[in-house]
This record gives sequence, structure tokens and C-alpha cells, in this order.
Amino acid sequence: MYHQPVMLREVLEYLRPVSGVIVDACLGGGGHARSILEAFAASPEGADSRSGCAGRAEPAAHADSQPTGPCRWSRGLLGIDCDTEAIASAGRQLSDFSNMEIVHANYADLPTLVRGLGIRPVTGVLFDFGASLSQFTSGPRGFAIDSDGPIDMRFDQTAPVPTALDWIRRSSEQTLREWFREFGQEPMSGRIARVIHERRRELHTTGDLVRAVRSAVPERFARKALARVFQALRIVTNCEIENIRRGLAGALQVLAPTGRLVALSYHSLEDKEVKQFLRAGRVAGRLRVLTPKPLRPSPEEVAENPRSRSARLRAAEVIS
Ligand SMILES: C[S@@+](CC[C@H](N)C(=O)[O-])C[C@H]1O[C@@H](n2cnc3c(N)ncnc32)[C@H](O)[C@@H]1O
Repeated sequence: MYHQPVMLREVLEYLRPVSGVIVDACLGGGGHARSILEAFAASPEGADSRSGCAGRAEPAAHADSQPTGPCRWSRGLLGIDCDTEAIASAGRQLSDFSNMEIVHANYADLPTLVRGLGIRPVTGVLFDFGASLSQFTSGPRGFAIDSDGPIDMRFDQTAPVPTALDWIRRSSEQTLREWFREFGQEPMSGRIARVIHERRRELHTTGDLVRAVRSAVPERFARKALARVFQALRIVTNCEIENIRRGLAGALQVLAPTGRLVALSYHSLEDKEVKQFLRAGRVAGRLRVLTPKPLRPSPEEVAENPRSRSARLRAAEVIS
């Protein structure tokens, strides 16, 4: 399985896919997207949304972030992901729908993408932050603690941007310490940064990185420290916090009045960005917050999909 979508029922409840275009800004394997498209198809005007009816016969995946529109449908889904493996997987998963477009792009560029495609009205934007199961467990991608691979960690492997190993090698011990503390919330960031910095020329694979972290902390803290160090390096490598800020701001630019913004976060840094953004939108009179407190997955969902346990869902509606 490429990925198991998290809090699917709640996502659909808040997005209400009935009319207009929903933007799935973190398409992944297309799990949420598929259910959104099925909800469109099941709604009263939805009968034309399968291929063979109006619209495209095959989904189109753009190879860059400058698509040219316009779309030939007005009720459907725009799926965005910056990982070409995710794009390919979602393309297969959604191949029986014609009222959708898949774009290989960064969600930080949302307004340019939406305008380029001539998509409107945008009635919902979904963010499902972080990495998919497939990315997390694939050795060659460099996100996995348990399988050896290059220290890459780029979501977009086609982008000419530094890998996590490049960042490690070009950064000072102090910078590494700050990243592990700020983006990993790792209490032993100082000693871990020292060891990684000392060994930076000998590090080649995630296995080397795992051994370096393990040598810096007592064994009973190693697992948590590893998860935090990998998280911090992933956030840095992909400019995640900056992209989240730009993505949320872009969503507000493209959403029509009464359109809905739904965001799934998996750690407190992501959730803090969403919370602050929604609060600022409420204070400015632009957003009505629909979730005063973040929603959490049900115990049944956590039992069935333990990876969902850290999820927090927040949603808001555009007022003007
Ligand atoms: C948790 S997964 C989404 C899973 C998806 N909702 C599903 O049901 O299969 C997050 C996805 O967001 C993508 N992603 C992360 N940062 C991105 C960015 N800045 N722009 C576009 N996609 C991004 C990742 O490549 C990953 O595929």
C-alpha cells in the first residue's frame, strides 16, 4: 500500500465535496483524493465525472509547475504533489476519473497553479502535511530510520536543491544543534550535533547517521532521538515550515467565499503554523474557525492505523 489516508471521514465532513473544485495540495497516493472524487460523483450533479463522459478521458500529469489552462471541468479535483513517485501512484489510483488534474508542483505556489489552470471556484483546499507511508519506509528516499539508503530526504528528487547530507556537511555544529532543538524538539541536541558534525565527512548513508545518533545518546533514548533528528533534517531539507506558511496563505488567496480549508498536521510545529494562521484569519475577519480545538483520530482508527495517532485536524471557512 502506498499510503493509508488519515481521518478520511472527518476530512470529507469538513470539505463537503459537492460543487466547484477541491484542491488536494498533498496528493500522496491519492487516498483522500479518491474519496473526494467519489463524493463528487455521488452528489446530484456528479453523474458526468467518470471517464467516458464529459471531460478528459485520461488524467494529465504536468511535468512542471507552470500548467496552462483552462480545465474542461468545473466540478472536480486538482491534486498537487512535489514527489514524482507520488504523482505516478496517484495517477494510477485515480485513473477512472476525468474531472481531475494532477500537477507536479510545490503547494507553496498554489495561486500561480490555480490561476494557470483557470480553475474556479475553489471550494476547498486540503493539506495533509509531512511524508507518506511509502516515503517513510523506502530506504532509497532517506526518510527511513530502519532501512539503509542515501541521506537524501528531498520530497522532490527532481529539484536541484541540497540533500539532507549536503545540509549536514555544510552546516556548523551550532546550526545543527539549533535545527535538532527547534525542528526536532530534541533535548539532547547538543551532544548529537557534536557527533554528527565531527563525523560529517564519514557519513554516507542513513545507517551511518543512525550509528552516529546512537553513539551520542543513552540507548533507552535512541529511538526517540532518531525520530526527532530525522524529522528535523527532513524539515530543513524541504523548507517545510516556510512552505506551510506560503501554502496556507496561498489557499486563502484562491478559496472562494464559503470555501473550506482543512489541514492535517502530524507534529506540534505543523499544528502551530495552522493554529496561528487560522487565528490570524479569524481576527482579520477572513475566516470562521470550524474546529475550536483540533480533532483527533478515533481510537478505532488509531487501532487500525497506528500511524494516524499523532494527527490533528483543523478546519476553517472563508468569510470574504
Ligand atoms: C501525508 S502524504 C499525503 C497522503 C495523501 N493525502 C493520501 O491520502 O495518500 C503528504 C504528501 O505531501 C507531499 N508534499 C510535501 N511537501 C509538499 C510541498 N511543499 N508541495 C507539494 N507536495 C508536498 C509529499 O510528497 C507527500 O506525498
